[in-house]
Amino acid sequence: MEARIWSTGLQRGEARPEAVQKVNAEQKSYSHCLYSRSASRCLLFLLILINAASIAAWEKPTTREFEFTIQPLSLTRICSTKSIVSVNGIFPGPTLYANEGDRIIVKVTNRAQYNITIHWHGVRQILSGWADGPAYITQCPVQTGQSYVYNYTLTKQSGTLFWHAHETWLRGTVYGPIVIYPQKRYPFVSPYEEHVIILGEWWKANVEDVETAALETGGGPAIADAYTINGLPGPLYNCSSTDVFVLKVKRKKTYLLRIVNAALNTELFFTVANHALTVVETDGDYTKPLPTNSILLTPGQSTNVLIKTDQPIGRYYMGASPYMSARIPFQRVPTLGIFEYENAPSSTLPTMPTFPASNDTNTAMQFATSLRCLNRHETYVERIPRKVDKSIFITVGLGTKPCDANRTCTTNITASMSNISLILPEIALLQAYYFNISNVFSADFPDSPLNPFNYTGSPPNNFTPESGTRVNVIPFNSSVQMVLQDTSILGVENHPIHLHGYSFYVVGQGFGNFNESTANFNLVDPPRRNTIGVPVGGWAALRFKADNPGVWYMHCHLEIHTTWGLATAFIVPNGVGPGQTLPPPPPDLPPC
Ligand code: C2O
Repeated sequence: MEARIWSTGLQRGEARPEAVQKVNAEQKSYSHCLYSRSASRCLLFLLILINAASIAAWEKPTTREFEFTIQPLSLTRICSTKSIVSVNGIFPGPTLYANEGDRIIVKVTNRAQYNITIHWHGVRQILSGWADGPAYITQCPVQTGQSYVYNYTLTKQSGTLFWHAHETWLRGTVYGPIVIYPQKRYPFVSPYEEHVIILGEWWKANVEDVETAALETGGGPAIADAYTINGLPGPLYNCSSTDVFVLKVKRKKTYLLRIVNAALNTELFFTVANHALTVVETDGDYTKPLPTNSILLTPGQSTNVLIKTDQPIGRYYMGASPYMSARIPFQRVPTLGIFEYENAPSSTLPTMPTFPASNDTNTAMQFATSLRCLNRHETYVERIPRKVDKSIFITVGLGTKPCDANRTCTTNITASMSNISLILPEIALLQAYYFNISNVFSADFPDSPLNPFNYTGSPPNNFTPESGTRVNVIPFNSSVQMVLQDTSILGVENHPIHLHGYSFYVVGQGFGNFNESTANFNLVDPPRRNTIGVPVGGWAALRFKADNPGVWYMHCHLEIHTTWGLATAFIVPNGVGPGQTLPPPPPDLPPC
């Protein structure tokens, strides 16, 4: 039977307007010419360019407008049909293509039964915090029948990011890629073709119901019924032999794969049978080329890899398999797609890859600590802070709390940062801060936990997190060092912590308790990310300059942990200079 194929070139459902496609095609030849050492090839490209002169002005930033209609869509996966919340009736949602420097305007209209917001994960949102999207942090949700226009500029950023819903668990199906082409050519070989691979998690049940059920029992959520590649589970699941993502390739070429983990609750290894991968970018920042057999992506992370089609003509499985550092149930069956060479007989069974074991923390740590930023002059986005003005130490972990009086339960899991479990307010924090509305939050989230303990030793008894809406204030333009420390309460676990509004340098990572005097820091070429998997039973140290005023959410990108309160927010006040003040909210900001 023929597998579903929709990615030879552009993928099904992409929102890339025809004109943009041409612009991007020109971009490749033009930049090739600018940097090519071969005069004759350059001349050829120049001739092409003259023919297409009217659309060759790709470098000038432009404004791109998109319409996102949030609407129900009926889909069948793994023998079961359900109605999901989608954008424009396609799943995964449309890819947003743009060039660095472009202004993006997305009108989001909500025609679904749930209130919703959209977050542009990894977009710096410089002076555009009102467009960031996390519900009750920067805005209240867009209600059914209403709309909101997200308006922001892609400043000094390129690469692969993604957008997703940021209210309850709706991002389980409401997600799609963001591809930002750089102003300058890639600092690596120009790929023959580029493809997006967005990984997800699929439940037969409505994801909102999975969340509600978990909160009702007080325990962990139901495990996913499948993982997906571009929305398709692949042949290892029931009824899925034709729901397989197929990437058709030509032999002896270099491809760029833009891989995103949009799963709700699972970190994933990604690999392609018999092919080496070379990492060139993480979370929208270039890396030094890192050759590897597999990569690890936590929810919220993206990674671009080059792959050479240097194997015999054939069919090879690519796929994603879980990395699970906690001792909890999880879906063990990997999702597979097919990496298929031109002229490979469709009768041949694809070669199976070897995935790292689901508890292979060595491989996970080895990969995470091998990444280095490409701090070449022309790709250097921001200096690595060497001196620290503000130091913050935050614990991340789970805990239990008493059951509510009106029901019985055995365990009631909660989660916290520095032992404070976040309660989302009813008015967005940014609104409360901007308009000075009192009694919404308190600005007293501590710079380090108020009750320190041996974080990775045997956990203290009866350690119940407090709950509250407490935020930390970071002075404008300060150089921040933030250390995230896992705790062993209810078991250690790798927590993928995501910071809104910034990318940070990961200057150090280790196992055990963080110790300032023995910690080994890389201040030369640390990787830059927006989401860091804090090592299981360990710590990660981040540095960034707080140069973007606003209210910025930070949370575990395992959705159930955010639900349990593993989150906080930072206020960065305005600076005093020009271009250092957050503008007022747009008039259509959804009412609370
Ligand atoms: Cu990708 Cu606050 O999220």
